[in-house]
Amino acid sequence: MKLPPFLEEDRIEVDQALDRLLPPEATMPATIHRAMRYSVMAGGKRIRPALCVETAGLFESDRRAAIEVGCALEFIHTYSLIHDDLPALDNDDLRRGKPTCHKQFGEAMAILAGDGLLTLAFVTLSKAPIPAERLVRVIREISTGAGTVNGMVGGQVADVEAEGKPVDAATLEYIHRSKTAALIRASATAGALAGSASEDDIARIRRFGEKIGWAFQVVDDILDVEESSAALGKTAGKDQKQQKATYPALYGLEKSHETADRLCAEAMAELAPYRARAERIRELAQFLTARRA
Ligand code: FPP
Ligand code: MG
Repeated sequence: MKLPPFLEEDRIEVDQALDRLLPPEATMPATIHRAMRYSVMAGGKRIRPALCVETAGLFESDRRAAIEVGCALEFIHTYSLIHDDLPALDNDDLRRGKPTCHKQFGEAMAILAGDGLLTLAFVTLSKAPIPAERLVRVIREISTGAGTVNGMVGGQVADVEAEGKPVDAATLEYIHRSKTAALIRASATAGALAGSASEDDIARIRRFGEKIGWAFQVVDDILDVEESSAALGKTAGKDQKQQKATYPALYGLEKSHETADRLCAEAMAELAPYRARAERIRELAQFLTARRA
């Protein structure tokens, strides 16, 4: 998928940093380092790092620090994809256009590669060049977003438990806000925290991240219906097959599109005080809701 030029620049810089931060393939035990590298370097839009870096850019910040925090977010995101694809969860063979980690390395190694990436994220954060007091807040923001209470793991639990059952609006909203929006919200907020954002700014960016992350998962649901596996780099049409709790399933495609647009507009409204300075983040938010993969 083609990214807008500044996102492509961010992606290239993030990819270089990911390569630097991942243990080399030959490091003992080599198998897990091969598996971790395989999944992280398989491609991916690097949306979460971009949100972190671009948000940090709104406030006085050290770009290198924001890139490293972005890499930690990408390690967590990639671990979640590896585990999500396991036979016990979504049981998928294709991710980022390649065989899934467990297809390539076996289930045991895929579980461990996910564990390794989650752990590496926090090693990476502990070394980021950010003043200690701010860094602790970055770590709290990200660990909470990835956790069980209204965070990614909690959302995944609700997603698994909703499979094959009729889902109500409140449960569907909980799944989307936790499973996906929480880490995206943490990505934007961590960027603000890595820079010199005020408490008001931090709260505003958190609301922006929440809305755009929520819209992102609604769009993800829509793409699963509207796009091909080749375009998505993962198996399309799976949500319906697995009777997943999705926006199109509960509301239909038209209403789902409307919801994504409304959430995106609400996110954009939070950026109003930053005027022209937020142009790149606006473009990023636009891209997240208009994307086709
Ligand atoms: C695609 O991201 C991923 C999502 C829309 C998030 C779905 C949520 C999970 C898989 C959570 C799983 C949680 C656990 C604990 C297993 P993307 O379009 O940014 O993918 P890319 O990085 O490949 O571009
Ligand atoms: Mg899933």
